[in-house]
Amino acid sequence: MLIKSPDDILPSEITSPALYSRRRDFIKTGIGLGASLILPGTAAFAAPKPTVPFSTAKKSPYSTTDESLTDHQDVTRYNNYYEFGTNKADPARYADALQTRPWTVSIEGLVKQPKTLGIDDILKVAPLEERIYRMRCVEGWSMVIPWVGLPLSSLLKQVEPLGGAKYVEFITAVQPENMPGVRRRVLDWPYTEGLRLDEAMHPLTIMAVGLYGEALLNQNGAPLRLVVPWKYGFKNGKSIVKIRFTDKEPRTSWMKAGPFEYGFYSNVNPEVDHPRWSQARERRIGEFTKRKTLMFNGYGDQVAQLYTGMNLKINF
Ligand code: MTE
Repeated sequence: MLIKSPDDILPSEITSPALYSRRRDFIKTGIGLGASLILPGTAAFAAPKPTVPFSTAKKSPYSTTDESLTDHQDVTRYNNYYEFGTNKADPARYADALQTRPWTVSIEGLVKQPKTLGIDDILKVAPLEERIYRMRCVEGWSMVIPWVGLPLSSLLKQVEPLGGAKYVEFITAVQPENMPGVRRRVLDWPYTEGLRLDEAMHPLTIMAVGLYGEALLNQNGAPLRLVVPWKYGFKNGKSIVKIRFTDKEPRTSWMKAGPFEYGFYSNVNPEVDHPRWSQARERRIGEFTKRKTLMFNGYGDQVAQLYTGMNLKINF
């Protein structure tokens, strides 16, 4: 993200277009019918079986409805997860080593009831929903992903945040023996992200635990990762182990790495360029012509009021 532009060859581009669209239709039909039987490649990265059946997750009214889904292969083989290396193919190649059970998330800081919850308890906090979201990476590419998850607000309410809590910090896993990337100080590990409390509690913000009707593969951030669809992809911390309520704006890993390039808000904004490239257009993975980037990634009706009166060029 710091160094590259996304010119790598994608799996969908080396598959014949006819086969590609047939497979895409096949995958779409498979959602809800038990996608586990048909998705390519999942056996090789088999995640522990969830105790809650993800394929029965009901489609949320917050879903983007009219856009084609990004091919499953691209969603799971073209990733950013720097703990496993900085090439797009590294996470799919190496993330199998991530240990995702047992897994606990400690929720602490300015709260009345700090808690450490096991992943299986988190899965029962609220009914799982399928949320089809547009995702926009700061590097200039985008995808449409059928996530399975629960509203982050339902998880955060478990600990009763105190009045002084204004921000939420998300801290992700470091497993040095399993993550070749953390031996290099590409970023300040652990990968840390943050949201303002109202952004974290917003109904569009989810904790994703699956995609395409199946538990998340490790390369996508198993067993749980943040998804905030109106922000650039790097806000979506993967494999979260700690959530901390604070009264001060957290300093995130990307802000430390490049304070003039990666701001705290990181809202998708075609009018504010990255210092080294334009953000006006994007390449939807699987398409060949670029499309215009939408303000707040197209979610402005739902989220613009969170930023009323703020100068979004300063608060980028
Ligand atoms: N989370 C961790 N722990 N480490 C990372 O390197 N990369 C981020 C984000 N979350 C990253 C992370 C970036 S830059 C992006 S674009 C998204 O994850 C990519 O998510 P995806 O690979 O599931 O599409």
